[in-house]
Amino acid sequence: MSMQNQTVDQVAVSIHGVAHHFGESGDAKHVKALQETTMDIYRGELLALIGPSGCGKSTLLNVIGGLLNPAQGHVDVCGKRVDGPMPHEIAYVFQENALFPWNTIIENIRLGMLFQGVAKSEHEDRAQQSLKAVGLMEFANHYPGQLSGGMRQRAALARALSLDTPVLLMDEPFGALDEQTRMVLGEDLSVLLSRTRKTIIFVTHSLGEAVFLADRVAVFSARPGRIKQVINVDEAHPRKPSFMTAEKFTRLRNELYDLLHDEIRKTVDLGSRGGGF
Ligand SMILES: Nc1ncnc2c1ncn2[C@@H]1O[C@H](COP(=O)(O)OP(=O)(O)OP(=O)(O)O)[C@@H](O)[C@H]1O
Ligand SMILES: [Mg+2]
Repeated sequence: MSMQNQTVDQVAVSIHGVAHHFGESGDAKHVKALQETTMDIYRGELLALIGPSGCGKSTLLNVIGGLLNPAQGHVDVCGKRVDGPMPHEIAYVFQENALFPWNTIIENIRLGMLFQGVAKSEHEDRAQQSLKAVGLMEFANHYPGQLSGGMRQRAALARALSLDTPVLLMDEPFGALDEQTRMVLGEDLSVLLSRTRKTIIFVTHSLGEAVFLADRVAVFSARPGRIKQVINVDEAHPRKPSFMTAEKFTRLRNELYDLLHDEIRKTVDLGSRGGGF
């Protein structure tokens, strides 16, 4: 989707001066997690968030999802002020898939719909459809502990998709998947974007995944994070694997790497023997 000609009524998520810290100032465990962040995310857009470990990406996602009350600022989702979870508007795929271990995969999916208030008559169809989408039909009656890490992540994705919300928050949803499955699911997500006007905020550490999926990529600085730069990808969905070999893809990926490199250096530095090993 092109980011030109966007109007205010097409804004799905509006972040107004959100900043957050954990613990009281003066306390040894006080952490400034996120610097003041302001940004609009449009309907039908996939915004990728990328930045060094600990820079506040999950914190920002938790604020948007209504799971964390920010120290400063606020967020509007679909025109409503966020002050708690909004199960009709927002589905969340967590960094650690949050499946109930004592429920089977299909029970986990049904429970999500139950909490959201989806009519019981729709549960079976939606559960089957979303299980099919992530290739877990045969594992519907398995417990999370009987699945591999990647399968659990796909199950968490199925649960979020079954809710059919206008906004999807995804925190490194494909992090535990092998590269091939990750690419195929990325293609599927791009098809989903081309078919619906879902708004997706997607945290990733993969430069390639960010460029392949995103309409815009917000690059964070090191902690306390702030949005250092926003890069437009400007390529129609659904994107094909051939996009990954295009000159534009390589150029954007390199641009992202340059922006991130210095920020990551502020966080980690094994090479300098700074740690004394
Ligand atoms: N519940 C919490 N209590 C105290 N500090 C926290 C809490 N959650 C996060 N933090 C701190 O806030 C900072 C940002 O954390 P956050 O989880 O947002 O980072 P992130 O960008 O998602 O990192 P990663 O890429 O490693 O997932 C970190 O320094 C972390 O230690
Ligand atoms: Mg995180």
